[in-house]
Amino acid sequence: MLSYGSVWTSARPTEHFTRTNLKTLISKDRLKKKVKELAREISKDYSDKNLILVAILKGSFVFLADLIREMKISHELDFISVASYGSRKKASGVVRLLKDLNTNIEGKDVIIVEDIIDSGLTLNYIRNNLLTRNPKSLEVVALLNKKKTRKVKIPLKYVGFSIPDKFVVGYGLDYDEQYRNLPYIAELEE
Ligand code: IMP
Ligand code: MG
Repeated sequence: MLSYGSVWTSARPTEHFTRTNLKTLISKDRLKKKVKELAREISKDYSDKNLILVAILKGSFVFLADLIREMKISHELDFISVASYGSRKKASGVVRLLKDLNTNIEGKDVIIVEDIIDSGLTLNYIRNNLLTRNPKSLEVVALLNKKKTRKVKIPLKYVGFSIPDKFVVGYGLDYDEQYRNLPYIAELEE
């Protein structure tokens, strides 16, 4: 049995906090500051708009939760979920829609909220799909951007950090569904 806070469980939740293959890449403080900046920019740009944030599940949920609490303007939220075929660490660009939006985005000002952009194939699929629904505008906010590995060009209006081609976890990002609860971004070393 492992201890997780005050709760006892037979799962393995404390494992990743003691793993030595995690190297901090972006600290909690840097994330907080950057998310605040992004929220300020979006609030300024969309103060007179009909904004709806479309978050891509699951990875973006921590970023989204912090972002909206720093935003000063009214907006709606919706979620979309896709599965990307390929290996755990590499997307293939073949995407299957798991959960569609509940909202009609026609005529709305949409910002896609994404955790990380690597090849860009997943976001490209979602972007093209949403464009067919005739939003008034469609932009992207991405917390992390791996520029070097990009395979398709996508306009990114708001970007938190550009990072090197390293596999990262934490702050919503996972490896094999683990590490999402780390409060910072860490590089997962092999
Ligand atoms: P892309 O289609 O190659 O741009 O991959 C995008 C998706 O792959 C992201 O939304 C993540 O879910 C996942 N991904 C890409 N790079 C990483 C990483 O370094 N850590 C965790 N997930 C990643
Ligand atoms: Mg994702």
